[in-house]
Amino acid sequence: MFITLEGPEGSGKTSHVPYLVEYLREKGYAVFPTREPGGTSIGEQIREVLHSLKNTEMHPRTETLLYQAARSQFVEQVVRPRLALGEIVLSDRYADSTIAYQGYGHQQDLEQVRVLVKYATGGLAPDLTILLDVDVEIGIGRKTKSQEWNRLDAYTLEFHKRVRAGYLDMVKQEPKRWVVVDAGREWRSVQEELRETIIKKLAWP
Ligand code: TMP
Repeated sequence: MFITLEGPEGSGKTSHVPYLVEYLREKGYAVFPTREPGGTSIGEQIREVLHSLKNTEMHPRTETLLYQAARSQFVEQVVRPRLALGEIVLSDRYADSTIAYQGYGHQQDLEQVRVLVKYATGGLAPDLTILLDVDVEIGIGRKTKSQEWNRLDAYTLEFHKRVRAGYLDMVKQEPKRWVVVDAGREWRSVQEELRETIIKKLAWP
């Protein structure tokens, strides 16, 4: 089972992953947590280039291609082998981030971006994608307070609003794959809803 977590900045995805993993392991599931961009040595190196605040001259097409380069490695080195072992792969971001950020955010041609994503993933789509949805101003406010400010966080508020709207559009286009969780609530309630959503999917795939 391939499960991905998506969301705009400051949705809190990353803080939920370790607790979800612990919970699922206690229930007896084999879970492999990972993240994009990254998850492989090559991917982590590409992440450095993508997120460095020094690389302000990066063109959106360069950005799009670098994410796909990290992704193809991630799919072949991590996701497919783990799925073949029968494990649950739980990824903090995946291909939908490219559609949301590089497609909707940068307003690049969505069809062209989708073709690139399909090439990078070899067509591998998640079984379940959870959108941790949060108001953009609240999310950016949370991120500003954290230590993890990156080059993409520094894009305009309008950019991040398009990203969120893009996610909500994707949910409408593929309602069977997506579940939306309101991440504006207190952390504990969000964690509980995430657990219930995943357990339900595991019980009725
Ligand atoms: P995060 O791990 O702190 O969420 O940072 C990942 C950043 O990378 C976030 O700003 C979203 C961005 N991103 C894209 O723009 N496109 C992608 O395909 C992926 C995986 C991430």
